[in-house]
Amino acid sequence: MPALIVGNWKMNGLGEAVAEIAEMAGSGPDPRRAALWIAPPFTLIDRAVIVAAGTVKIGGQDCHHKNSGAHTGCVAAAMLADLGAGFVIVGHSERRRDNGETDADVRAKAMAGQAAGLEVILCIGETREQRDAGQTDAVLSAQLAGSLPDDGEGLIIAYEPVWAIGTGLVPTLDDVAAAHAHIRRELVARLGPAGHGVRILYGGSVTPANAADLLGVADVGGVLVGGASLTAASLLAIAAAA
Ligand code: 13P
Repeated sequence: MPALIVGNWKMNGLGEAVAEIAEMAGSGPDPRRAALWIAPPFTLIDRAVIVAAGTVKIGGQDCHHKNSGAHTGCVAAAMLADLGAGFVIVGHSERRRDNGETDADVRAKAMAGQAAGLEVILCIGETREQRDAGQTDAVLSAQLAGSLPDDGEGLIIAYEPVWAIGTGLVPTLDDVAAAHAHIRRELVARLGPAGHGVRILYGGSVTPANAADLLGVADVGGVLVGGASLTAASLLAIAAAA
């Protein structure tokens, strides 16, 4: 299975930034080795879909759990699909932190994304305090228990330790392997055999320098990249590691 390399641009990028996506589309990796997906800010999705030319999959960084209604400033999953987006990220720790999103909110958003026909990248991960207290597995289990949708249709899990995001800190490869194995066990317990088919990404301070090691860890099906996804040069270097 080709590795999945997903860029999350967070709140970065004005119109000129779509040139980076055009370059990623033009010089992308061999599709047998890696697939490139980018989640730009909502404001760039329509332009990004055009320049991505079907080569780079474009997605949203969040969606509302309802299809429409009086929710000023929010974006429905169906609106993303309508723009040509193919996936949505839900439950990112920055949204849990900045917007108070709970596991129940994340679950509702994931199901809205599935209903709109989008692939859904559902993010989970422990804080530094939780890891230091030996609670990593328990935290991941609780997040999955509260946020997993009923079925695995189009579902992808991203393991993003909160303390590794934007810090340059990365868990040891053994710790990544242990977390992914734990997540896999939980997915199978919850979804049955379909749980084997859910891809699990690692995210948190992925760079061209560490991508090959991380992508080589058992059950790491790809990476979710923040800062190092903003330029084509950097993301293509990560994809080349696949
Ligand atoms: P960084 O790659 O900047 O650490 O961000 C990771 C992330 O949050 C991706 O969703």
